[in-house]
Amino acid sequence: MKEDIGDKLDIGDKLDIGDKLDFAKGLEDVVASTTSIGYLDGQLGKLVYRGYDIFDLADFSTFEETVYLLLYGKLPTRIELVTFKDKLVSYRPVMDEVMDRLDRLPCPCHPMSLLRSGISLMECIDETCQVAQGIEDKQEMGIKLIAQMPTLTAGIARILTNEQPVPPDPGLDHAANFLYMLTGERADPLAERVMDVSLILHADHGMNASTFSALVVAATLSDLHSAITSGISALKGPLHGGANEMVIRMLLKLHSEEEAENYADEVIAANKKIMGFGHRVYKTIDPRAKILQQYAEDLSNITGNQQLYRVARIIEKRGMEAYGKKGVCPNIDFYSGLVYHNLGIHTDMFTPIFAVSRTAGWVARILEYLENNRIFRPRAVYVGPKGLNYVPIDERD
Ligand code: ACO
Repeated sequence: MKEDIGDKLDIGDKLDIGDKLDFAKGLEDVVASTTSIGYLDGQLGKLVYRGYDIFDLADFSTFEETVYLLLYGKLPTRIELVTFKDKLVSYRPVMDEVMDRLDRLPCPCHPMSLLRSGISLMECIDETCQVAQGIEDKQEMGIKLIAQMPTLTAGIARILTNEQPVPPDPGLDHAANFLYMLTGERADPLAERVMDVSLILHADHGMNASTFSALVVAATLSDLHSAITSGISALKGPLHGGANEMVIRMLLKLHSEEEAENYADEVIAANKKIMGFGHRVYKTIDPRAKILQQYAEDLSNITGNQQLYRVARIIEKRGMEAYGKKGVCPNIDFYSGLVYHNLGIHTDMFTPIFAVSRTAGWVARILEYLENNRIFRPRAVYVGPKGLNYVPIDERD
């Protein structure tokens, strides 16, 4: 959506680019950097990490291998993968002091707020964070953060249910260990695989709002933890990662196919948004939604939650009929919530799980950008009043 500001330009923060300017509201289609990490084709519904199609990664890879790919630009050899996994395992623990301080926060707040606070506390308390200045140090710190995110997130989930955090199990892979730390029990193999795939699918996604936000902070040469808290803050919003939570809250209110039909009628008649639909880049169905939709169906059959799945399919069908022709289709958040719900995970934890995975993309893109860093500094066109005389306070109306 280009917004023509026409003659409003001739005031204030004057740009040296002529009298007329089209600007892209929300930076639509504005290119902010080059990257070798990944791309999405919004017309074809294609997502690629480092040249590899997301469908192949979902079928054949693991989260640890995908993180290696994002960070180092190639698939690891067997020995490289073992070494990398050992490093992730060694970095998993989060200082008790961080968890204790989070536990003592007086407010009942969203786990994304605790996650953001936890990352800040880690930077304040762990002095190794403060000396990570160069790109190599930041890479090491980034790997540590990727490893710690599940521990911190699971610990927060336990705090919210008044349970003791469960320490990581070094014998378990990343996804399996995350599920284990959430519940204190080993999950079944399908649940572990579904979580692994979900983490792969969420790991990176172009210049989305949270990635851009993290890059803006990193490009000032601020520390990595500050950049990650920025990414978490952006991801929390319901127009971005927070949508997965909104979708399941919507679906859980619909107790039958009939209610789903009626709800769809109302939303469409009022031309309102359906959460989990629409995307700035995809003008067709998000490929990640296709993968998670299948897992949602499989899990629903196992858990007996078929009714909820059928409700989701009705909303999807009706949404596609109404909005599909203008390129508004289901995105990953439409089905990720259903998957996590069927894994028995509390709704409040859905967006934090997104952050557990996306930290990999944030770190990879920050490291890539810092190789050829330039601070971000766009312009805004001033359209307010000008030439006002300062009025002393006693003379104001
Ligand atoms: N339901 C119905 N119509 C929609 C939806 C939706 N969810 N999203 C966009 N549209 C329509 C708009 O009404 C608008 O229609 P119009 O041209 O007839 O006025 C058109 O599509 C363009 O919408 P914008 O809001 O301008 O699209 P934008 O690119 O700015 O926003 C966004 C993208 C924020 C994702 C939007 O689609 C949305 O709010 N979706 C719902 C929230 C959501 O699911 N977010 C998760 C995105 S994926 C992710 O971040 C992981």
